[in-house]
Amino acid sequence: MKNEQKIKKLIIPAAGWGTRFLPMTKIIPKELVPILNRPSIDLLVDEAIASGIEEIILVISTRKQEIMKYFEPNIPLEKELKSKNKWELLKHVKKTNREAVIRVVYQYEQLGLGHAILTGARFFKDEPFAVILGDDLIKSDVPVIKQMIDEYQKVKSSIVGVQTVPYEKLNKYGIVKPKNEKEKENTIFEIAGAIEKPSANKAPSRKAILGRYIFNYSIVKYLEKLEPKEEGEEINLVDCFADYLKEEKIYAYEFDGTRYDLGSIEGFALATIDYGIENKEISNAIKQHILKIAASIYQDTSELNFDNSENNDKKRKNKK
Ligand code: UTP
Repeated sequence: MKNEQKIKKLIIPAAGWGTRFLPMTKIIPKELVPILNRPSIDLLVDEAIASGIEEIILVISTRKQEIMKYFEPNIPLEKELKSKNKWELLKHVKKTNREAVIRVVYQYEQLGLGHAILTGARFFKDEPFAVILGDDLIKSDVPVIKQMIDEYQKVKSSIVGVQTVPYEKLNKYGIVKPKNEKEKENTIFEIAGAIEKPSANKAPSRKAILGRYIFNYSIVKYLEKLEPKEEGEEINLVDCFADYLKEEKIYAYEFDGTRYDLGSIEGFALATIDYGIENKEISNAIKQHILKIAASIYQDTSELNFDNSENNDKKRKNKK
């Protein structure tokens, strides 16, 4: 009966320390890093709402209360904008007041992603739920959580969102082990397990779990059993998969979209460029700037890892 339920609830774990983004994260949560003029977490909330989610649980730490404030009404600011007839800006500010669908819970100790999801899931009853990681932004035509909810309706089992990553990045992610090797290039396939941050030679595939999940509520009792292996060690989500798989299937779904790791400086820089190009007001300026710098980079491509064979062929022909 439980599997007949629609997925209306979602957790955004956003309580991590954000050490890869220090020193800024000393005082500003990485989830409030702006992509153009919007905090990145606002874009994640958009994805959830566009996917039909009705209740979002933000898991934050007590040091990250600014995240909560962003989603609360700011009455003096609204009055100020009204008095100056700035209706368009007022509309944008009001759009952030989504407290009706957003609840905030504290993860008092940063014990890892598995623990953060458990902290949020305690507010749910026996129903499937979705998860979007607070520092994983994905640009796509169809919101990724919507893509995964559609798949869930077919398989009725937990699903992890994956994409293929290069060998040198396998040790940064949870990597899935396909149940059937022949199916691993399918858009959706069953998994036999997952390993957290394996070395390239131990990785069971190149499919990395990247920030999107749908879980049947039954995962909770497996998350509850997890303990840190050593004092101070994080509770990894994938550590409960081996036991969970004895009871239920888990699928990996290769989602369609461009993913940005906003916990990293590189991901943030790339997202800013891509969202800038798509923003009507600044698109031309960004494109012109890119062309200008591309021309100067092109003069010394030897420093970069481009496959420049085609250009070299042309140069050779011109010399003749
Ligand atoms: P990350 O490992 O990417 O986030 O966790 P982090 O711990 O903030 O990053 P670094 O390594 O120190 O730079 C993935 C997601 O899980 C959340 C993070 O906020 C992030 O969105 N998380 C992680 C929690 O909510 N609680 C935790 O205890 C750990």
